[in-house]
Amino acid sequence: TKALIIAVDGPTASGKGTIARGLAKHYGLPHLDTGLLYRAVGKQVRLSGGDPDDPLDAARATGFPDELLEEPDLRSEAVGALASRVSVHKRVRAALLERQRAFAAQAGGAVLDGRDIGTVIVPDAPVKLFVTASLPARARRRYAESIKRGDDVTLEQVTDDLAARDERDRNRAEAPLVQASDALLLDNSQLTPAESLEAAIALVEEAR
Ligand code: C5P
Repeated sequence: TKALIIAVDGPTASGKGTIARGLAKHYGLPHLDTGLLYRAVGKQVRLSGGDPDDPLDAARATGFPDELLEEPDLRSEAVGALASRVSVHKRVRAALLERQRAFAAQAGGAVLDGRDIGTVIVPDAPVKLFVTASLPARARRRYAESIKRGDDVTLEQVTDDLAARDERDRNRAEAPLVQASDALLLDNSQLTPAESLEAAIALVEEAR
């Protein structure tokens, strides 16, 4: 049987990470959150005193130590914004490509979530999902998470931040965020996380 590779792409705070983790558990597959790789590059560029908008500084930061991936603040909005800036550089994307492809090539398959998994990293993945939700729905979720973490933010700030990240991710020249032509769309604006995972499993069953 063919390896079950599930590519999950979508914008920030769409719930794609939760869905990817849920799918991995359901199918017993390893999962890679590729956003963490870009977040580690963003953090590393800062730690080394580099400029995230400089292609060479950002490319050098792809040599981050693996321990960086374990740091809890990697999930913060501040590091997310840095990740979005370093991820526009071609050299950064090229440096992270093989690591992602090797993960996807594991015997039995894998689940990867990100922005360009179905379009660039594993264009021949047998199952591709494009997970999205309206901007207000995503902002409300991200705001609730931030408040829970103790961040001092307003819903308006979170909304503006998400809109800016969407804009940058969708309009960059290299591997922009776009639904692959053969990806199945899952809009979960009106769904709970449990309903969203159920819908994702149904789509995977339909596609595999
Ligand atoms: O998904 P997450 O919010 O962790 O991603 C952080 C940033 O990393 C995104 O805004 C995007 O710019 C970048 N990214 C990317 N390609 C991926 C995953 C993330 O460009 N496959």
